[in-house]
Amino acid sequence: MLKEIQQTVEYIRSKTEGFEPAAGIILGTGLGGLVREIETAYVLPYEEIPNFPVSTVEGHSGKLIFGKIGGKPVVVMQGRFHFYEGYSMQQVVFPVRVMKYLGIQFLFVSNASGGVNPNYEIGDVMALNDHINLLPSNPLIGKNEKEFGPRFPDMSEPYDRKMLAHAREFAQNEGFTLHEGVYVSVSGPCFETPAEYKYMRIIGGDAVGMSTVPEVIAARHMSIPCFAVSVITDLGVEGKIMEVTHEDVIAAASKAEVKMTAIFKHLIAEHL
Ligand code: HPA
Repeated sequence: MLKEIQQTVEYIRSKTEGFEPAAGIILGTGLGGLVREIETAYVLPYEEIPNFPVSTVEGHSGKLIFGKIGGKPVVVMQGRFHFYEGYSMQQVVFPVRVMKYLGIQFLFVSNASGGVNPNYEIGDVMALNDHINLLPSNPLIGKNEKEFGPRFPDMSEPYDRKMLAHAREFAQNEGFTLHEGVYVSVSGPCFETPAEYKYMRIIGGDAVGMSTVPEVIAARHMSIPCFAVSVITDLGVEGKIMEVTHEDVIAAASKAEVKMTAIFKHLIAEHL
């Protein structure tokens, strides 16, 4: 794993002339609009990067973008790898480990998710203040790589409290609602049944989705502070459950992503 990472990092460095990103950003389904805010310096399609898995889902174009947001150097993953696509957990988190060795000191993550909190509406945004991993695995299973972190990593602060506070203040000043809540990660690819949505709520979830948690676990293992936002694209709330398609999720995400993009941009420009 370490060797592969080094090989990938060397390749990326050779293509980006030593560009040093201060933060990594992972963009979720239908949430690529942040890319328009980047002063782009380099673009590397995933298929050209050695050892990188290649993304297959519609709505994910699959490239690493290097550039500046709010004057700060960042690396952006446009398109991520999901467990439901058949990738191993190691493959899902491989780019996070690569970004660590490229020098990132902070990780921003976005995703589309189903709201199970009855106070949520489609198009709302939720900053994650915790998560529950219901994926059938964990990226840290297997021999522990000491260079990354300890065998039994602490998870008492999965999401950076300071960034959460900055985000809260920003949303207040801008006059939009930013929920704070618990994200439940599932494997998918099915969306949930009504009984499953109810279960997510009962166990303490506010939103449910198919990503983010593996990347955050890998990042926290390496002591990278994380900030993550869910865009609520559908509702798993009794009486409000409707048929949902991937296209609905992309459409709802595109509408709500303005808020998510504004939060990320503010945090990077002012608080990184
Ligand atoms: N469930 C799981 N994943 C999702 C959902 C959902 O309702 N919406 C977007 N991603």
